[in-house]
Amino acid sequence: MSPTQSKKRIAVIAGDGIGQEVIPQALKVIRATGADLEITEFDWGADRYLRDGMTVPPDGFAMLARDFDAILAGAFGDPRVKTNIHAKEILLGMRFRMDLYANVRPVRLLDASLCPLKGIEPKDVDFVVIRENTEGVYTDAGGVFKPGTPDEIAIQEDINTRKGVERIIRYAFDYCEQHKKLDGSPRRRVLMCDKSNAMTHAGGLWQRVFKEVSAEFPQIETQHMYVDALCMQMVRDPRSFDVIVTNNMFGDIITDLAAGLQGGLGMAASGNIHPGQTSMFEPVHGSAPPIAGKNLANPFGAILTSAMMLAHLGLTKEAENIEAAVLQAVRQKKTTQDIGGSLGTREAADNIVSLVK
Ligand code: NAI
Ligand code: MG
Repeated sequence: MSPTQSKKRIAVIAGDGIGQEVIPQALKVIRATGADLEITEFDWGADRYLRDGMTVPPDGFAMLARDFDAILAGAFGDPRVKTNIHAKEILLGMRFRMDLYANVRPVRLLDASLCPLKGIEPKDVDFVVIRENTEGVYTDAGGVFKPGTPDEIAIQEDINTRKGVERIIRYAFDYCEQHKKLDGSPRRRVLMCDKSNAMTHAGGLWQRVFKEVSAEFPQIETQHMYVDALCMQMVRDPRSFDVIVTNNMFGDIITDLAAGLQGGLGMAASGNIHPGQTSMFEPVHGSAPPIAGKNLANPFGAILTSAMMLAHLGLTKEAENIEAAVLQAVRQKKTTQDIGGSLGTREAADNIVSLVK
């Protein structure tokens, strides 16, 4: 990737189900901003896999890293592919093989009407979860012994390396230092979430590294919570959260919970980032087979994700333009049904396009 080059090269992989609906809408919106982009679409996903068995071409990940500044992905998962092998190879392939170690998931409430909690305003929910994205229980390390018998043993290993834990915790502190809240106020606090009371080996490493790295950032407050207590706090009163750093599995779970605070999965954006390398951006939601192909899916998660990608590429004005348009649409209820409007996927996105223009 060459950061000095002005035209940004974007690889787009819409994937399966509603990914094929929301990503074209997000593309319409980023084109409407006038950003100088060169967009290349790839057909990796269930259809392609069912047609010729290909998930990712042999040099696929190297090609993405070499030829593109960022990747915009939809969702992967199709009921016709029972093993989910294509999703694993494409999505986890990008995260693991391209070493996109920081999964950044902002949680922002755009309008009070979207939050299921009483008395919570947009200013009360503006935090970010930094999820470790390359280790933990998602590496598929482990195995089964005596499968299918009454003596079956299944082992799923939780991998935590010093290097992996340190770089994600440092990323969280750097993020806290460099990013402001939506209202312009600085971020102040990094909370580390683990289960070190029960998972003592991995938890011990996270605890030690958190303490060490935090010493390099004396101006940033630190906090710690066990994951179960954090879940309760998130639904009781999310106001105190700022930057949360956690492992792969806890990050996966608490960001679905957090998405509930901001209007559901249709509203949640994310980035899979390795600073200085080609990074990948995707809405948090999956392929939602029951609503796929019906023009029902909320495109705002994908649209906000594309804004996050543009901001990452330095196109701050374009990103802010998109975010402001989504905010206005939400306030005017020009949205899909999942968040209280009556528009279809395309119509909700068309409105964003006209606001952006
Ligand atoms: P899902 O996110 O697809 O759907 C969960 C629920 O949220 C469903 O009720 C769905 O209708 C709703 N929903 C999701 N996105 C929405 C949107 N944009 N607008 C309106 N409603 C929306 O998760 P689920 O059902 O667990 O998984 C479905 C498939 O997606 C599976 O194959 C799964 O493996 C895959 N998946 C893929 C992910 C990815 O590619 N990053 C993430 C999560 C699931
Ligand atoms: Mg998930």
